[in-house]
Amino acid sequence: PPVLRVALLGCGVVGSAVARQLVEQADELAARAGARLELVGIAVRRAGRRREPGIDPALLTTDAEGLVERADVVVEVIGGIEPARGLLLRAMAAGASVVTANKALLAEDGPRLYAAADAAGVDLYFEAAVAGAIPIVRPLRDSLVGDRVERVLGVVNGTTNFVLDRMDSTGAGFEEAVQEAQSLGYAEADPTADVEGFDAAAKAAIIASLAFHTRVRAADVHREGITGVTAGDVAAARDAGAVVKLLAICERTAPTGDGDAEGGVSVRVHPAMVPREHPLAGVRGAFNAVFVEARSAGSLMFYGQGAGGEPTASAVLGDLVAVARHRVVGGRGSSESAYADLPVRPMGEA
Ligand code: HSE
Repeated sequence: PPVLRVALLGCGVVGSAVARQLVEQADELAARAGARLELVGIAVRRAGRRREPGIDPALLTTDAEGLVERADVVVEVIGGIEPARGLLLRAMAAGASVVTANKALLAEDGPRLYAAADAAGVDLYFEAAVAGAIPIVRPLRDSLVGDRVERVLGVVNGTTNFVLDRMDSTGAGFEEAVQEAQSLGYAEADPTADVEGFDAAAKAAIIASLAFHTRVRAADVHREGITGVTAGDVAAARDAGAVVKLLAICERTAPTGDGDAEGGVSVRVHPAMVPREHPLAGVRGAFNAVFVEARSAGSLMFYGQGAGGEPTASAVLGDLVAVARHRVVGGRGSSESAYADLPVRPMGEA
């Protein structure tokens, strides 16, 4: 089969899971992609740092610019605006397709990346940028593109969901629940990006852009975090048959009159009382869920793990196979070689 050269930018929790899975699942991925996905290098900030087992140290390089120029596909899991943006623009200009998990960059400067991909005729995939393992980018971008999405409600930050869930189930205060989230590795030492809603706002901007085919940046998102939520608020919600969630709310707004025939969009992140019978109320712990309301499809819910190395790597590898198929078989859903003849056992017995 043909070979696609894959460059990986970043080797943190997600990057190392991607690198490992690329090696461990090489044969299956090759069959499904119609090409061998050969990891040609992993760009890291500093060489010599201790790495996860299963990662070939010979692949590590600090020359990210040189690496992207010898790749067919660049996978970016560094995060942040620079150097990620410069590297991805350089990669696309050189003809490489891009798979990225970078929500901050997409929410800040997505249109520039889309334009660069269009100009170069390459793919730009980013399923991992929103809600980790949960397929939500491609459902909004592809599956629902023939429908009209009216509203999207998301629990898209696992850390804050864990904190609010602990406050609800144990009666703990905010600080105590954050400390527990930190001790379990959900919340970072500086939890600002999560508890102040910045992470959720970036995801909301990406979701709204896809759902409404418009441009929404993180700075356009009204944002209120959960630092002001007290044990009393949570108890009052419980008494009212509700649960407090940090919601990302993306919805169309009614036309206001002259020159606004289509109406607009409203995108906001804030704590909200969710009735216990709503499907989003059942999203416990650090899980995520995205609830979509579309004109013809009706209500849909996507649920799963929104963070973590292995779950996020699942989304990255899915994108990588999709991009590889485009480059090799012109975007056909699959190739015959992807099917192995596994025995079918109707009753599940061995
Ligand atoms: N810190 C995020 C969360 C995970 O808690 O959901 C990555 O977006």
